Amino acid sequence: MAGRCSFAIILWLSLLLAEARSSISSEVYVVYMGSKSYRGDPEEILSAVHGGSKEKGRASHVYSYGNSFRGFAAKLTEEQALKMAEMPGVVSVFPNLKRRLHTTHSWDFMGLNADAAMEIPGFSTKNQENVIIGFIDTGIWPESPCFIDEGMPPVPSRWRGVCEAGDSFSNSSCNKKVIGARYYLGGYEAEEEMAESPVNSVKNVNFKSPRDSSGHGSHTASTAAGSYVNDMNYNGLADGGARGGAPMARIAVYKACWDSGCYDADLLAAFDDAIKDGVDIISISLGPESPQGDYFNDAISIGSFHAVSKGIVVVSSAGNVGTTRGSATNLAPWMFTVAASSTDRDFVTDVKLGNGVKLAGVSLNTIEMNSSVQTIAASDANAGYFTPYQSSYCLESSLNRTKARGKVLICKHSESSSESRLEKSLVVKKAGGVGLILISENEDDVAVPFIIPAATVGVENGDKILSYVNQTRRPSSLILPTKTVLGSRTAPQVAAFSSRGPNSLTPEILKPDIMAPGLNILAAWSPANKKMKFNILSGTSMSCPHITGLVALIKAVYPSWSPAAIKSAIMTTATTLNKNGRPISEEPKGKTADPFSYGSGFPVPANILTPGLIYDAQPSDYKAFLCSIGYDDNSLQQITGDKSVCIQPSPSASNLNYPSITVPELKNSISIERTVTNVGNPRSIYRSVVHPPSGINVTVIPKFLVFSRYGEKLRFTVNFRVEVPSKDYVFGSLSWKSEDARVTSPLVVRVVSSSEGLM
Ligand SMILES: *[C@@H]1O[C@H](CO)[C@@H](O)[C@H](O)[C@H]1NC(C)=O
Ligand SMILES: *[C@@H]1O[C@H](CO)[C@@H](O)[C@H](O)[C@H]1NC(C)=O
Ligand SMILES: *[C@@H]1O[C@H](CO)[C@@H](O)[C@H](O)[C@H]1NC(C)=O
Ligand SMILES: *[C@@H]1O[C@H](CO)[C@@H](O)[C@H](O)[C@H]1NC(C)=O
Ligand SMILES: *[C@@H]1O[C@H](CO)[C@@H](O)[C@H](O)[C@H]1NC(C)=O
Repeated sequence: MAGRCSFAIILWLSLLLAEARSSISSEVYVVYMGSKSYRGDPEEILSAVHGGSKEKGRASHVYSYGNSFRGFAAKLTEEQALKMAEMPGVVSVFPNLKRRLHTTHSWDFMGLNADAAMEIPGFSTKNQENVIIGFIDTGIWPESPCFIDEGMPPVPSRWRGVCEAGDSFSNSSCNKKVIGARYYLGGYEAEEEMAESPVNSVKNVNFKSPRDSSGHGSHTASTAAGSYVNDMNYNGLADGGARGGAPMARIAVYKACWDSGCYDADLLAAFDDAIKDGVDIISISLGPESPQGDYFNDAISIGSFHAVSKGIVVVSSAGNVGTTRGSATNLAPWMFTVAASSTDRDFVTDVKLGNGVKLAGVSLNTIEMNSSVQTIAASDANAGYFTPYQSSYCLESSLNRTKARGKVLICKHSESSSESRLEKSLVVKKAGGVGLILISENEDDVAVPFIIPAATVGVENGDKILSYVNQTRRPSSLILPTKTVLGSRTAPQVAAFSSRGPNSLTPEILKPDIMAPGLNILAAWSPANKKMKFNILSGTSMSCPHITGLVALIKAVYPSWSPAAIKSAIMTTATTLNKNGRPISEEPKGKTADPFSYGSGFPVPANILTPGLIYDAQPSDYKAFLCSIGYDDNSLQQITGDKSVCIQPSPSASNLNYPSITVPELKNSISIERTVTNVGNPRSIYRSVVHPPSGINVTVIPKFLVFSRYGEKLRFTVNFRVEVPSKDYVFGSLSWKSEDARVTSPLVVRVVSSSEGLM
């Protein structure tokens, strides 16, 4: 599908500010009390820890959650929090942590993506207008051309949401496209009080309302469900018509993210309302820091557990930590977790050296440089006490104005760096530089809208440029305007920044689940701080709403399908091959990728409505999963609010009826159970086809599944036996093939010798 309306740039200053603040310990705690039907009164509990004072209890109160689950947020001392955790009816008490948007660095990534036309032949947009997607994000710019409601029928009568007024947002700012909007400020204000800090010298426009000042929320919403816009572009780049994945679906906005991030107390309030309002899908492009804490100490996992229990699909981003093993977040099996890929659209910025050699880089450069300019390595322009090495990274104030003025500077950007690339162009500009060649050590091809003519190049081209400069008497270069190039490369590839599995909390569940375009995506933007209607961004924040759009397409056609069924349909029909029919590889080096990077692979929209078989799961399956990972009857009942009990002994978490199979600790052999439901031809025969992981004997019993009716469920067993032990994870696949469907699951296995314990 084509993402399009979006925005990008936020302020690095406010980010710095946020960093400075995050070290201050939180005083707000979230007290989670499980399902709605469980008894226990927040007010009583709150006054109890305040020595019975109802008044003190009320004064400390930040939020109550009671629409879809129970709990509250309050200002507490650590001691009170500990005391509360022991009280009956309390499932967990956790600090009001700040979560981050999964845009690589939001201000860095302005992207356009007009790739992958994810239209499904033969299916109209019929019934899409009955699908309501809730976006928990930075709000919305409702006047964007992506959110025009022309041609949309009246709002579904079942909708129970509101259009909440506030700064520059009235209760008529919503329309038949953006049908609801709310905002959540309590958790943010309690932590940051919107403090006037001296660092905050750059005034950002912020709205205490659902209005989006950052652009991230408008970008994600338009990628999933933007209306058709026929002249979307970023300053002339990536020009063309564009629309979201499900252009007739409805958007409901839950603004819980502010300049510095999104607090748990606010996120939980957003989930509480979204579930009650009647959304069908929740799209949440943000997440906890890696490694993620326990499921019931994390607002996103908790909120999505209750959402999925009510049949709402929750789609989330895996994170942008990059290739580190186990860095993926949003790990709960009830969530649909998305990795990011490249597309076949590139933003090529050529650098022409004085000797006539032309080298390709990437950026979003729309500024014309009229002549070749003297070019130096930033290490040769070190200022004051900065070493040449430090200056080579163009750190703040590290450049000598006398040496830099009027020149193109060659700066480096290190792989591990949390610095903003965009900021480096500011540093060069402040030193009087007129151009920037940025050598990116992680070569992630993220196109950045630098503020002076600039191009990001990889290490190989960077070395060529440095040696030209070193060996030439008056080296010069010319940075050309960016060209949009289609079909120039192998696509999709796993984006270098996309977070990787295995699942660091429950290794029996493969994460991420799926991959979608997240590199240089064009979509709607907020003009509040940067006067643009559209912007190009990168991150799993951008890949998540691509999957949200696909989920909406399925939901429109099969409104009664469970979240697990919809997820299964997208996962089991995905491909692990690129457009050239070769195995999907990873940026930047082109190494063959594996399920820890892309889960089940890259979706094939043409097949998602005809998956043949689905791996379904009901709330009871997630309850059994909780038993498998150590919950007892008591803690389970608090969460679910019913009389659920655990089967003893609980089966391995690998037995959750998931569309992928992971055995993280295979000793000699193990049998894993799965059940598939026939949603294809009533009478059909499926044959199992196994590509076993290396060194593992895999047998499937039975080998054939013979269905005689729609909806029929058949069970099968997959036996894994170690033949040749290998140290690391090994990968394979299991497909069920019929005449007209292929239902594929990744197999992920790690052998541990019988004497080895857990790792
Ligand atoms: C919008 O706000 C006005 C004034 O605050 C109120 O009278 C009106 O009922 C509201 N409309 C809706 C649809 O909530
Ligand atoms: C290049 O020339 C154009 C037209 O003469 C001018 O608008 C532009 O500012 C010049 N660019 C630079 C970097 O000086
Ligand atoms: C900058 O470079 C000039 C010329 O080499 C030198 O005279 C000056 O002291 C340098 N200034 C700083 C702050 O390094
Ligand atoms: C430049 O050349 C000199 C001598 O040829 C060498 O020692 C130095 O490392 C080179 N510097 C770079 C940045 O290539
Ligand atoms: C796997 O093991 C079974 C017996 O358990 C055997 O019949 C089969 O041939 C083995 N498969 C392979 C590929 O070695």
